Amino acid sequence: MTPVLHAQGLHRFFRRGGEEVAALRDVSLTLLPGEMVAVVGPSGSGKSTLLNLLAGLDDPDGGSVTVAGLPMSHQSADVQARLRGRQIGVLTQTSGLVEHLDVLANLRLAGSFRHPGPSVGELVALLEAVGLRDRSRARPSTLSGGETARANLAVALSGSPALLLADEPTAEVSRDEELTLLELLRALQPADGATVLVTHSTAVAEAADRVVHLVDGRVQ
Ligand SMILES: Nc1ncnc2c1ncn2[C@@H]1O[C@H](COP(=O)(O)OP(=O)(O)OP(=O)(O)O)[C@@H](O)[C@H]1O
Ligand SMILES: [Mg+2]
Repeated sequence: MTPVLHAQGLHRFFRRGGEEVAALRDVSLTLLPGEMVAVVGPSGSGKSTLLNLLAGLDDPDGGSVTVAGLPMSHQSADVQARLRGRQIGVLTQTSGLVEHLDVLANLRLAGSFRHPGPSVGELVALLEAVGLRDRSRARPSTLSGGETARANLAVALSGSPALLLADEPTAEVSRDEELTLLELLRALQPADGATVLVTHSTAVAEAADRVVHLVDGRVQ
């Protein structure tokens, strides 16, 4: 079975002042279809750095990343953007919504990078699933905090990406909304897809199939 995600021996160093910071040291992670993995660890332990490498938004100083069997690390920005557009949904705590487009148009935009792209019927069904069917024509600025979080989730899942990468998707929502989002994440993950969830929440970590603990850039 081809892993949805295979990260091997990742290292990432940053220069800060005259000092070198090792943000990641020899981190490996493999996700098979259907798996949901939580990444937890203290602030500064390297969680966001790891997610950026997996998404092809940054390149490792050592090691490699493949997504759906295709190389992601050390490719041109174009190749990385295309692979990300086709295979990866990225969900962060800041809004990924384009303000001048309504909610449905935001889903269509994200879905247009997939191959094959989703039909309008599929996008409306996705909005229904996250409880935003009657907000499909709304502008992002008119959504509540919880609605924004669910719209972000729908955008990230538009077109059923093989891999969902989520960086603290429930950090800005109430406890009730967090549980709703968690149920939606589990229910809407495609059967052959996989999810990496960075979180500080024990409820979110408990819902995952596996938990990876990062401390000082290393897997514990
Ligand atoms: N672009 C950068 N330049 C310099 N240092 C960086 C950069 N990005 C991250 N770092 C450093 O790398 C380490 C890991 O940062 P990272 O953002 O991955 O932590 P995190 O686990 O996501 O923390 P948090 O829980 O606060 O979001 C930190 O010491 C951080 O200061
Ligand atoms: Mg972070």
